[in-house]
Amino acid sequence: MIEGYAVPDFISDFWHYYIAAITAAGILFSLWLLKSQSVVKPLAPGESAELMHPVWDGDLQELNSPLPRWWMWMFYLLILFSIVYLVLFPGMGKFQGVLGWSSASQWQAEKTRVDAEFDKVFQPFANMDLMAVAADPTAKKMGEHLFLTYCSQCHGSSGQGGSGFPNLTDNQWLMGGTPDDIKRTLENGIIGEMPGGLAGDEQGAKEVANYVLALGGKQHDASLAAAGKDKFAACAGCHGEDGTGMTAAGFPNIVDDVWQYGGSEAAIIESIVKGRKGGMPAQLELLGENKLHLLAAYVWGLGGGQQPVAEPVAEMMEAPVDEMPVDEMPATVAQ
Ligand code: HEC
Ligand code: HEC
Repeated sequence: MIEGYAVPDFISDFWHYYIAAITAAGILFSLWLLKSQSVVKPLAPGESAELMHPVWDGDLQELNSPLPRWWMWMFYLLILFSIVYLVLFPGMGKFQGVLGWSSASQWQAEKTRVDAEFDKVFQPFANMDLMAVAADPTAKKMGEHLFLTYCSQCHGSSGQGGSGFPNLTDNQWLMGGTPDDIKRTLENGIIGEMPGGLAGDEQGAKEVANYVLALGGKQHDASLAAAGKDKFAACAGCHGEDGTGMTAAGFPNIVDDVWQYGGSEAAIIESIVKGRKGGMPAQLELLGENKLHLLAAYVWGLGGGQQPVAEPVAEMMEAPVDEMPVDEMPATVAQ
């Protein structure tokens, strides 16, 4: 069961009692109404035994007889059903019902069952090397389906991304492009966050943006760029003095031609003024190890995958940052 989901989100207990009271009153009212209709009213003196009203439409008459018994019983049974239902299932305000059922727990149970079935299909690939999985046509097909289901809404159906969502088919990687890097990115997600307003006002941002364009050897306004040079000190800690960034730590290169949000003067100014908070949700808990294995191989095979690094380096990269000896840490991180 998913924590927190089963708790109804009533703002205060008042609503719990309010809804429970309306529900109970509704049931009691129906009972009273049915009861009141099942007694035969005594006739007033002189009243005809059956006919209460004149005849309509030629032969339609209203008789003074009680409602049919089977019809009444049907309603009594419905009321009984609703009471049993409200005891077993959620319905009376925040009362969860004695069965403890919730749509979230049902979903979880179905997901567990389906996952177990699919895991049989995914299992054969789970222990294979990522490069071997990437080369397997069946795995590729499965990876494609998974990608279309879980990733395409952000990265596009072909993985080519869009504004704010990186292209996964080129060989530019924010978090590294070896099979293991990609898998780690998927497992842990990315927290990509840059605070806004670091270059002061709009004018300051315009100056720094032109300095960034100048660093990248692109068309820029020289006097604005000169004015922005000093202000770039506020950026160098993350993007480096030369703007090439530190991709392994999630700080993008801002002097190349690969842009997540756009490389025009206006787009750069917007990045600087408003700040950026991209980030990708971690997928391990949602999708599980087996699916991520197929997905990592699929993404690697989209065209931009880099060759795996030699073992010792890979081990160092895998060590959590706070376990790395400080003098081995890249300068930008140690700052
Ligand atoms: C909610 C939108 C969203 C979804 C869903 C999503 N991503 Fe991402 N992904 C992003 C964003 C945004 C980034 C860039 C993060 C940043 O740089 O701050 C990213 C980055 C990445 C990267 C790193 C690219 C690099 O340059 O290193 C990979 C690989 C990736 N996504 C693969 C996937 C796969 C595979 C899936 C499906 C399981 C997926 N993503 C689902 C939004 C998403
Ligand atoms: C605290 C670290 C940090 C600082 C300081 C910082 N940035 Fe960033 N910057 C980031 C991160 C992280 C991203 C990626 C955000 C994302 O993925 O959504 C980013 C993204 C950008 C982008 C968008 C890149 C693209 O591909 O579209 C630009 C442009 C940029 N920064 C310029 C600057 C400038 C100019 C400064 C100084 C005024 C600056 N940054 C200061 C961390 C930083």
